[in-house]
Amino acid sequence: MAARSLLLIRGGRVVNDDCSQEADVLVEDGVVRAVGRHLLPPGDAPAGLRVLDAAGKLVLPGGIDTHTHMQFPFMGSRSVDDFHLGTKVKEEMKILTQDKGVNSFKMFMAYKDMYMVRDVELYEAFSRCKEIGAIAQVHAENGDLIAEGAKKMLALGITGPEGHELCRPEAVEAEATLRAITIASAVNCPLYIVHVMSKSAAKVVADARRDGKVVYGEPIAAGLGTDGTHHWDREWLHAAHHVMGPPLRPDPSTPDFLMNLLANDDLTTTGSDNCTFNSCQKALGKDDFTKIPNGVNGVEDRMSIIWEKGVHSGKMDENRFVAVTSTNAAKIFNLYPSKGRIAVGSDADIVIWDPKATRTISAKTHHQAVNFNIFEGMVCHGVPLVTISRGKVVYEAGVFSVSAGDGKFIPRKPFAEYIYKRIKQRDQTCTPTPVKREPYKGEVVTLTSRGTKEDSTHGTRKQAQP
Ligand code: URP
Ligand code: ZN
Ligand code: ZN
Repeated sequence: MAARSLLLIRGGRVVNDDCSQEADVLVEDGVVRAVGRHLLPPGDAPAGLRVLDAAGKLVLPGGIDTHTHMQFPFMGSRSVDDFHLGTKVKEEMKILTQDKGVNSFKMFMAYKDMYMVRDVELYEAFSRCKEIGAIAQVHAENGDLIAEGAKKMLALGITGPEGHELCRPEAVEAEATLRAITIASAVNCPLYIVHVMSKSAAKVVADARRDGKVVYGEPIAAGLGTDGTHHWDREWLHAAHHVMGPPLRPDPSTPDFLMNLLANDDLTTTGSDNCTFNSCQKALGKDDFTKIPNGVNGVEDRMSIIWEKGVHSGKMDENRFVAVTSTNAAKIFNLYPSKGRIAVGSDADIVIWDPKATRTISAKTHHQAVNFNIFEGMVCHGVPLVTISRGKVVYEAGVFSVSAGDGKFIPRKPFAEYIYKRIKQRDQTCTPTPVKREPYKGEVVTLTSRGTKEDSTHGTRKQAQP
């Protein structure tokens, strides 16, 4: 029989989305067994207990990155960080949800002739999602307008990375965001907008939420941490490194704006949309920006970026930080409270976080396969000291103790209460019923092209029968 594994995180400040407390955390066999003060005074410690000192540090639920692409075959290339799960068509959606534990599906409104779906397909897919209890996700950009805009830019001789943003300005993202929300609302399906990148699209999401729509917006590390002015850099490669869709916006006040909305619950979760291509892959588009593979890094730096720009800046507190980096995602994707919370019975996915320490982000020191970092040189407060995954210390003092395959797919159940309670209630109370009224008993006439009226008994239409 395997010896039980025991871990005590002593003396830290345990932070959940709704409260913080000074407490120890006792972990047994990968699960939190107790949270409280002085759980095991020195001397009472059982043999084999590992103690981690967290005095002066924060003890946070492990982050949940809502959006990554690993080994993603895309635009003639394959993203260089690995792991990806693909999704497909209508019948398979049901099988994936019922048998395989997949409860969200991403639809692309962009990438014409590749992935783009049209409104009627969105309507069908949203209806299906709602039927099987999944959450519909959209990449919201108008693919037709992008295709036309790209042709226009190239005809003008604009072939560099700046053309990428110029052919898909904010309105292209905002229009698709509103359209997706309108379609989802028509079928009463909860909607999740991935990578909200512009002020205009974020405002659409915020307005819809205030209108009572069941919609969630996900800004990403890139959009919160940097901006699209880099597309105009004199060095082609630097500019190309920042190309992703929807684009980083040239308005430098965008990251601050998105962070304010995230702090105030207009936006809900944070992903990284990590989709990395090396410089030589980006160079596929050296003569034509439409051929630059879209995607940037963020999976490693997401938490630090949000701490720096969100908490250190004073826009949000430590609890909101936990909400937007972990808890809200766990609730939406039906993993809560196993994930997204430090409480008795939760999985011991925990980060010991030093809120005062700083680190400088650099491709020279990062742990990703990609050879550049869009946050290069950024100094961030908030440093992970220890990372614990299902009770096992997987990172400590700069050293990783993980092997390929250690990660675990977690099947998720459909109909997450956090989003579906409201949907179900609306189905019961908001479904229109036909009005009972007396049948029409009068005359029916047909107007001819000459505008004259024919007697219905001699014309093309029959009189309605009582
Ligand atoms: O540019 C991006 N975002 N690349 C990843 C694919 C996607 O659209 O999410
Ligand atoms: Zn996307
Ligand atoms: Zn993505």
